[in-house]
This record gives sequence, C-alpha cells and structure tokens, in this order.
Amino acid sequence: MRLLILLILFIFLNKSNSLIIKQKQELKVGKLNNGFKLSNGLALTPPMGFNYWNFDECKTKLINETMMMNTAYAMSTNGMSKVGYEYVNLDDCWMAKTRDENGNLRPDPIRFPNGIKYLADYIHSLGLKFGIYGDIGSKTCKGYPGSEDYLEQDAKMFAEWGVDFVKMDGCNMQVSDMKKAYTDLGKYLQETGRPMVYSCSWPTYAYVENITMPFDYIEGICNLWREFQDIRDNFTEWTQILDEMEDSIPKRSQFAGPSHFNDPDMLEIGNGFENDIEYKSMFSLWSIIAAPLIAGNDIVTMSKETLEILINEEVIQVNQDPLGIQGNRVYKDQQLEVYQRQLINNSFAIVLFNRGDVDADITITSDMLNLTNHQNYIIRDLWTHTDNGTFSDTFTTSVQSHGIVMIKLSPKINSIHLPLKYRKNFVNKY
Ligand code: GLA
Repeated sequence: MRLLILLILFIFLNKSNSLIIKQKQELKVGKLNNGFKLSNGLALTPPMGFNYWNFDECKTKLINETMMMNTAYAMSTNGMSKVGYEYVNLDDCWMAKTRDENGNLRPDPIRFPNGIKYLADYIHSLGLKFGIYGDIGSKTCKGYPGSEDYLEQDAKMFAEWGVDFVKMDGCNMQVSDMKKAYTDLGKYLQETGRPMVYSCSWPTYAYVENITMPFDYIEGICNLWREFQDIRDNFTEWTQILDEMEDSIPKRSQFAGPSHFNDPDMLEIGNGFENDIEYKSMFSLWSIIAAPLIAGNDIVTMSKETLEILINEEVIQVNQDPLGIQGNRVYKDQQLEVYQRQLINNSFAIVLFNRGDVDADITITSDMLNLTNHQNYIIRDLWTHTDNGTFSDTFTTSVQSHGIVMIKLSPKINSIHLPLKYRKNFVNKY
C-alpha cells in the first residue's frame, strides 16, 4: 500500500515537473528572427549590480574613476558580492563630448584620467564585472556621442576595454529605426567574441510614443529590455511602473525567461525619499517579477538598514530562481494586492502588498493561487526568516501600510521522511 501511494506521488510530481519544462520550451519556440539570435548564454537569471544614475544622474562631480572604484571595492567587501551583485555599471556622462580622431569613444579625461580599461581591470581584479552605457541614436540623452553610425566600432571598443554589460539607451533615434539598430549592435557585440549582457531601451521609447513593440522579437536579440518611464524615488511613481508592467497588453511576463528579462528600471532603495517599509516592498516586488536587481544608491555611504534590504538572501533567491519565470499579480482589491511566482521544486513565492494608507489584513487562498491540488505547503517568511505554519487553503496576515509580507510556499512532500532510495525522485528535478 505504501509503495502504491509513493508510486502515485512519483507520477504526479513527474507530471507537474515535465509540464513546467514543457511550458518553458514552448516559450523558447519562435524566438528566431532575421537570422540573428542572441546566444551569449548570459543573464540566465536577472543580473545584479550597481549603476549610479538613480542617485547622481549627471548632477555632481561624483561620477568619476574614484567613485566607481570605491563602489566596486565596497561591493566586494560589504556582503553584496557574496549574495550575487556583480556588475558595476557606468551610466550617462562618462564620455568626453567628442570622439577621438579615429572616431573612437573616449572617456571624459577629468573624470576618468586613466581610461576605461584601467577601471575595468580594477573591477575585474575584485572578481566583479564592468558595465558601460551607450546610446543607439546620434547622441546620449545628456548629449554625449551616440553610437548611431559607429555600432561595429563601438562594439569592438567595448570588447577591448573589457566590458561585460552594455546598457544601450535610445535617445535621439526614431523608434521605427530601432529594430534594425538594436539587432545590428547585438550582432556586432556577439561577433567580438566577448560575452556582454545586452540591455536594450527600445521598449521605453516605443511605450512613450505608444508604438506597438514586438516583444517576441526583442526577447531574441536582447538579454534585458527597459520599458516604461524612468523610475523615481517615490512610492507612487514606482508603483505606477509596476501597474504598467502588470496591466499592459500583451502580458509582459510571458516574454521573460533565462537570458531574456523585462526591466522595469533600477532600484531606488536607500536614496532617501522613501522609508524602509517602502524600500522592502520595492525589493520584494522587483524580485517576484524577476527584474534585474541593479542598486541605484550610493553603495559607499549607505546605511546598515539599506544594506540589509539589498542583501536579503531569501528574497534574492526568489529573484534568482533558475526557472526564470516572471511572477504576476494574481489578485487586486483596491489597495490590496497579491503577487505569485512559480519557483523551482514546485514552490511558490508570494507577495502580499498593501498600497493603502492604513495597515490591513490580506488573505491568500488556494483558489487565488490556482493551487487546486490541495497540497500542504510550509510557509516561510522571507523577511523575518522564520517558518510560519502550513498553508493548505487560506492564510491571512496583517500587512503594514505601503508594506509587504513576502512568503515562500514549499510543498510539504519534499520534507517527508521517505526512505532514501525513493527520496531522490522528489527533489532537485530540474
Ligand atoms: C534615460 C534612461 C536613464 C538614464 C538616462 C541617462 O533617461 O532611461 O536610465 O540612463 O537616460 O541620460
């Protein structure tokens, strides 16, 4: 009898696992386009790192070699690199106002007196990776040289410098020209032979101009694609981006997967205009929607509280789940929302989010989560780092105003004490 039950469980688990694998394979079909398919094997999970734009823009003299090196050093010693942050990225304003006599991009000589390769080498010496910013149009958004007529030359230069991540903005180019330009640059980057994560801003500009975006095309040529307006350190503004991600048609989550992710813009955590409750919400929601985790704050001077949010490993594990499935909002009742993400080993991450001005109870149910198998799940609170009972049909918890409760549901079956020879059939299926 015991063997029969085990057999039924085994068949059931195998079936649900192969269903997920099948879904992933289906997602991969149809990504070929124009003969070019990005196959750099990078960003299998959303990239994690740093970019100065959100705390500095180009306003101060802060953007320079020293700041970048100090940031990289801090990242390598403060616990961030240990939990997965690896890219240390430039943004706009790193360049000189003109190219050199050979048409090559060059850095601002005052901000980067030793050149870009020197900076990249230092970042690599810490075991980290280096990212650069460019623009596919005639000029960057702040008026520095664009790559429009120099795509191949710039791709080669990036590779020579030791770049590992390219954020290609889309100011100063017609949206109608972007398909070709982003495709060409992707090809040139790939032809250099140097693996570089390729982040494209094309959908941001298509969105602003209300132009339909071919997402099944862009997911074949870019590792990441920015969409919607620029983020601000303001609860109303970043939740608006979240709404745009959730409500836009076609549903953006269907285009995400290993090596190709939606990018709702960089983090604002620690930039000072929100409280830590709101910052925890942002971190949890960005994690559940499989967004890149690019810290946009001053890493060298940040508070202990900010660092603690950025290095919450249990939340990061959700963001970095190897299936790469983007979570979705599955419930909304005015200011109360629930997000769900399928994880490896038949587990789920759930965020209960209260956007309202007063604390409130939020209830999740198995119907809401489409968990119709009446399985029992262990509830793990990813911010208190404690187990919180078992979920079978409902779970209710109080959620602070502008706050979240983030939990992971893991099938109880995985922790059943099966004889060893059967146990391996139930875990590590992927
Ligand atoms: C655009 C991008 C930002 C930043 C600036 C730089 O606005 O969306 O993330 O890179 O350009 O000028």
